[in-house]
Amino acid sequence: MKLILLGPPGAGKGTQAAQIVESFGIPQISTGDMLRAAVRAQTPMGLKAKEAMDAGALVTDAIVIGIVSERLQQEDCEKGFILDGFPRTLPQADALALTLSGLGKDLDAVVSLQVETTALVERLTGRRACRDCSRGFHVSFDPPAAEGICDSCGGELFQRGDDQEETIRNRMEVYHQQTAPLEDYYRQSGLLKVVDGMAPIAAVTQQVLDILKAI
Ligand code: AP5
Repeated sequence: MKLILLGPPGAGKGTQAAQIVESFGIPQISTGDMLRAAVRAQTPMGLKAKEAMDAGALVTDAIVIGIVSERLQQEDCEKGFILDGFPRTLPQADALALTLSGLGKDLDAVVSLQVETTALVERLTGRRACRDCSRGFHVSFDPPAAEGICDSCGGELFQRGDDQEETIRNRMEVYHQQTAPLEDYYRQSGLLKVVDGMAPIAAVTQQVLDILKAI
């Protein structure tokens, strides 16, 4: 299964990717996670990416295309992959098509999670993630058993720096200008599958799995 999860910030891409990883045993490739790891490790790429990420802007196409192209060539992507947060611009989508054709692979589907803006802001301001294993939670919609502590590994939960309301607004704006046009791009190629992302997490997972199992 070679899949893209498309949707605005907070649509549930990471949440649903984790469920698909479990069902299909294929890796999640999250450019956001990879970039945050590079920022934490203070690599040259992380230092370049940090300013854009803090502002809710996009990191340059050249950086993200480079990391995804390299990642797709790794052995664990042989059976498939879930792209979460990539592509985000038309040049990224074109570069992905080129990389996949070089590897002799085709995408199976592009699943677009549709969520209203007010719900997105509520989801992002209430989101928490584990410092150790990165598992995501929500203070109201998917709370941990003990406040501030990860159910999976006992690690400390924290709020992402770009989940502040003003940065969230910038991320939404960037999404509408630069990423939303990808819906038409993939609709034209017949790959787009639209999912109601407003439903509860488990119901969204069911919709996504039904689509994937039918492919
Ligand atoms: P990235 O990490 O990719 O952030 P994003 O796209 O803004 O998406 P999020 O991770 O915020 O949301 P999500 O859709 O995964 O939602 P989640 O499942 O966590 O990117 C961060 C930054 O990196 C970018 O701003 C940019 O600077 C840079 N970057 C990354 N990729 C790039 C690229 N390709 N090009 C250039 N720059 C790039 O869910 C959110 C919350 O809602 C959670 O708390 C969850 O529990 C809850 N929730 C999920 N589903 C539901 C539901 N159905 N009902 C109720 N609550 C729900």
